[in-house]
Amino acid sequence: MNASDQKQSLNWSELGFQYKKTDSRFRAVWRDGAWGEGEMISDEFIAIHEGAPSIHYAQQCFEGMKAQTAPDGRILLFRPDLNAQRMGRTAERLLMPHVPEEMFVRAVRDTVRANASWVPPYGSGASLYIRPMLIGVGENLGLKPAQSYEFRVFVSPVGPYYKTAGLGTIKLAVSEMDRAAPSGTGSYKAGANYAGGLLATKRAQELGANEALYLDSRERRFIDEAGSANIVVVMRDGTVVTPKSDAILPSITRRSIMTLAEKKLGLVTEERPIELRKEIVNFSEAAACGTAAVLSPVGSIWFDGDWHDVGNPEHVGPVMQQLYDLLVGIQKGEADDEFGWTVDVA
Ligand code: PLP
Ligand code: COI
Repeated sequence: MNASDQKQSLNWSELGFQYKKTDSRFRAVWRDGAWGEGEMISDEFIAIHEGAPSIHYAQQCFEGMKAQTAPDGRILLFRPDLNAQRMGRTAERLLMPHVPEEMFVRAVRDTVRANASWVPPYGSGASLYIRPMLIGVGENLGLKPAQSYEFRVFVSPVGPYYKTAGLGTIKLAVSEMDRAAPSGTGSYKAGANYAGGLLATKRAQELGANEALYLDSRERRFIDEAGSANIVVVMRDGTVVTPKSDAILPSITRRSIMTLAEKKLGLVTEERPIELRKEIVNFSEAAACGTAAVLSPVGSIWFDGDWHDVGNPEHVGPVMQQLYDLLVGIQKGEADDEFGWTVDVA
């Protein structure tokens, strides 16, 4: 065992989803039309100008990824090219410079490698959460794009996002507030989308839910997504359905789950509007999915003043269990990566 194989002495299985300072982070600056090389640094603080557009006008965006340890000790990323492309799409929407895909993936790999002792060991149930972020940092006052930008990647070992045991069910409460407007920024990973959701999450938690569920903001009929995850539903006829909406984040986890449902389980899959009140009687299973949420079965949903159960409200259903096992098996390098989704950080 060499020094980089030494692990921190943490109680990995007790970790929640909290920030834990690790050794190094990647930092690169964009100035005068070009990115610098970038470097690994130890300082977790960012000194920026008080006029920076990221802190006034939310000209910033981020990504969320995970690294996992495989049984043979390799450290695996999951589809990092898609996170790089999504950050590029968000950057374009917010008039920020692209972080080239090569630089994005290199920064993620370097940061994970530099913090190898913080990557939870195989079998611990924990993973290393990776947070790439792009912020407008230069001096500014008027509402216009920043003159310079900082791209950072930091990591933190994490446990489950929702407080449930194992694959325990979560509860969602339909929000009376909207997350995103039609033709707004809902489909981009912009921090601005999340600040507005803090109160909705608080209200949902006051009702006993884990998180808010948003319906489409035009008619409040169709499922959009949860505060930090997309939604997937197994209908009584066995079809796997996920909402079609321009206002939701295009989740990489959801895209992978839909592929697994179709290609590995042979199920019919559909992306279409899902009318909650009308269709819930036909739901046999539902789940929230995302990098942080992984696949979290939904047991009940609050709307119109009442709780409505989905399948068995206490237990994950058989299809979601299979999808979870398939997804996590690939992410952890336990199963054959037949779609070529994982990337070794070495
Ligand atoms: N929806 C929202 C609002 C999110 O914040 C996330 C998390 O990234 C997701 C969905 C899931 O996306 P992904 O699977 O790419 O992590
Ligand atoms: C993720 O799943 O990576 C996210 O970005 C969700 C975040 C709110 C924790």
